Amino acid sequence: MSRPFINLNAGDPDVEAPKCVTDAVLDALKKGGRWTHYAGSEIPQRFREAVVDYYKTFGPEYKPENVIPTAGSSAALYVALATILERGDEVLLFEPSYSGHYRLLGNMGVKMSIAPLKKGTGFHTDLDILEEYVNPETKAVLVCNPNNPTGTVFTERELRGIGEIASDHDMVIFSDEIYLHFIYDDNKFTSTASLDGLQDRTLNIMSFSKTFSMTGYRLGYVIAPDRYVEKATTVAAMTAPRPATFVYAGGTAALRKGMPYVEERRLAYDERRKYFCDAVNDIEGLGCRRFEGAFYAWFDMGSLGMSSVDFVNGLMEQENVRVRPGKLFGLNTDDHVRVPLVQPVPVLKEAAERIERFVESL
Ligand SMILES: Cc1ncc(COP(=O)(O)O)c(C=O)c1O
Repeated sequence: MSRPFINLNAGDPDVEAPKCVTDAVLDALKKGGRWTHYAGSEIPQRFREAVVDYYKTFGPEYKPENVIPTAGSSAALYVALATILERGDEVLLFEPSYSGHYRLLGNMGVKMSIAPLKKGTGFHTDLDILEEYVNPETKAVLVCNPNNPTGTVFTERELRGIGEIASDHDMVIFSDEIYLHFIYDDNKFTSTASLDGLQDRTLNIMSFSKTFSMTGYRLGYVIAPDRYVEKATTVAAMTAPRPATFVYAGGTAALRKGMPYVEERRLAYDERRKYFCDAVNDIEGLGCRRFEGAFYAWFDMGSLGMSSVDFVNGLMEQENVRVRPGKLFGLNTDDHVRVPLVQPVPVLKEAAERIERFVESL
C-alpha cells in the first residue's frame, strides 16, 4: 500500500501537553528527592486542593479528601465502580457507550441494563421510558457526559430526569465527565453533582488524558461524596494503580495554569468537527451530524447494507485508514463508525476523500 497510513483509531490527541505541564514534570524530575520517591501526603494534597478549586467552577464544592487520585480515569472508573458494586448487581447505562465501560462492568460480573440513545432523538435520552430499564437490582446509573462515541451533551433537563429516577430508586450516579471541556455551539455542560440533592449520590470520573493531551502521563481521579470516601480510598490503595509522584506536579500545573491551552484545543476540535462531519455527511450513503461535545465523529453507514466491521476492514485494506467499528460501542450500533478527530484538518481532508473513494468502490 503506497498511501501513507492514517490512524484514526484511538482517542489520543495529536499534540503535546501544555508547556506548563512538561515544565512542571521536568522540574520535579530534576529536583528529585521527594518528587521521585513515594508520594507521601503533601504532594497529593496539593493536587487535591487544585482539583477542588477547579471543580468548584462547575458548581459543587468538595473537600480535598473527596478527591482520590488514580493512574488515568480507567483506574478511576474501576475505583468508583468497585466502591459501590458487587458481582451480580445491575447498572443502568446507555448505548452507544464507550467500549471500556462495557468491558469493565462485564469483567466485574455486573449486569447491565442498557437504555438506547436513539438517532431520532439526536442520541439523547427518552425520559418517558427510562424508568422501564430500572429493576430492583439496579444499584447505579453510569452517564458519560459528553458521551463517547455520540458526543451527546446531556441537558440539564435530562440530568434532572436521570437524577430523579436515581433518587426514587436510591441509585448511585457514576458521572464520567472526562470530555467536559469539549462542548460546541449552544450546548452547555452541566455537572450532575451540581443539581439539587445529587452531589451526595454522584461519583465523578475525571481525567487529564483528553483535556490536557496527557494520555501517556496516566492521571485521573474520582471525586466521591463523603459517605463513599473511606471505601473508595481503600479500594484505590489496595487495587488500582496510582499516579507517579512527579506526575502530580504536571496535574497541579495543568489545573492551575492550563486553561488557556484547553480553550485552544476546544477551538481546534471545533474546526475539525465542522470540517469533517460536513465532509462525511456529503458522501452519498453516509450520514454524519455535527456532534455536540467530545471529539468523535459518529457516522451512519447503515444504508450501505454492510457491517461496521466489514466497512472498517475494507477501508483499511483499500485506503490505509484505520477507524473504529460502531459494533464495539453497543449491541445495536453496527450501523455506525467512530472517528476521533485527533489529526489536523489537512489529514482529516485526506481521510474524508479516501472514505468517499472507498464508499464509491462498493
Ligand atoms: C469515556 C471515557 N472514559 C474513560 C476513558 C479512559 O481514559 P484514561 O484512562 O486515559 O483517562 C476514555 C478513553 O478513551 C473514555 O473515552
